[in-house]
Amino acid sequence: MSDVYRTRELYRFNATDQFYKRQMYLSSGSMLLVTLSVRDLRVHYKSKDAVVRAVDGVSFDLGNGKSVGIVGESGCGKSTLGLALIRAIQGGSVESGEAFLDGKPLLGISDDEFSKTMRWKKISMVFQGAMNSLDPVFSVKAQFYEVLKEHKYAGDAQKAIKDALAAVSLPLSVLDNFPHELSGGMKQRVVIAMALLLGPELVIADEPTTALDVLVQAQIMSLLKELKKGGMSVMLISHDLGIVSEISDMVAIMYAGKIVEFGTLRDVYSNPRHPYTQALLKATPRIRGEKELASLKGTPPSLSSVGPGCRFYDRCPKAMEKCRNDPPVVRTESGYVACWLEE
Ligand SMILES: Nc1ncnc2c1ncn2[C@@H]1O[C@H](COP(=O)(O)OP(=O)(O)OP(=O)(O)O)[C@@H](O)[C@H]1O
Ligand code: SF4
Ligand SMILES: [Mg+2]
Repeated sequence: MSDVYRTRELYRFNATDQFYKRQMYLSSGSMLLVTLSVRDLRVHYKSKDAVVRAVDGVSFDLGNGKSVGIVGESGCGKSTLGLALIRAIQGGSVESGEAFLDGKPLLGISDDEFSKTMRWKKISMVFQGAMNSLDPVFSVKAQFYEVLKEHKYAGDAQKAIKDALAAVSLPLSVLDNFPHELSGGMKQRVVIAMALLLGPELVIADEPTTALDVLVQAQIMSLLKELKKGGMSVMLISHDLGIVSEISDMVAIMYAGKIVEFGTLRDVYSNPRHPYTQALLKATPRIRGEKELASLKGTPPSLSSVGPGCRFYDRCPKAMEKCRNDPPVVRTESGYVACWLEE
């Protein structure tokens, strides 16, 4: 089988084929090889005049206990990807695609079944800006109980809360506090603890360090690292490559609704193949240590009017005539890259 797949369709077929093989390993009772598998996911927001293709054909696999960083500029679809996996899209819908967690479907089941078996129990999310959305009129304790009630938790609630607080290194006394009595870092720990209440295998953390000062950012990152050491998978969504590099085994670079490069942290950061990844790295001092940052000129295309061809075309220093056609998705050592330069 060739390593180069000339069309997205071929990559899709191959990736799906590989997924089913992994499923077969699972059903034969041997190893658990895949934690999260996303296939050709498409999420649209529709208004009267436009369709915003926020996630437009996203595929990747994440191994057992591994973490993935989703990186890209504002508006490229990072949060939409996370929200689709937890089935919390508001004002839009999943148009097509599949997603599996440990072989169980996240999308192809009823809301009721997802709620009973998966949401918060297997997969949870620290929503973007959640620490600022804690209800000011309820104590932390009341908000923890509300989460347990919402997810119909039938176990020992006190123990679940105690364990979740211990996991984020918060004292039990915080339960009596109201949000305004907590620092930003403590509020973020509270929302992370809420996501941990039902013992999920995968936590999606959407910009968990944004708007926190540098020292608190470092504390939150070391907390996420600890959770990962404990066996939990993290999908860390961030616009900051430096933050993502601290925790991720795998990295997905998103641009205008698509993943343009996917691979291990080492491969993507030490040998970036896609011109957009290269530009992002040049604009990130903590990774390469450049004295001067190279800014990326221009803006991504509108997701309500994207046509055929590479979406990075207008900003790419290496653009060629053939880039007006959809780029091939080419397999790399640890993932893939979508670019005509790899043909
Ligand atoms: N509810 C919505 N209705 C319509 N369009 C939406 C909605 N939510 C997001 N979008 C659009 O979908 C696209 C992707 O948005 P998304 O929030 O997923 O991006 P993001 O990468 O998370 O951005 P940021 O880094 O700013 O958080 C954007 O063009 C955004 O304007
Ligand atoms: S496909 Fe062409 S325009 Fe797109 S990133 Fe590759 S070289 Fe640049
Ligand atoms: Mg977002």
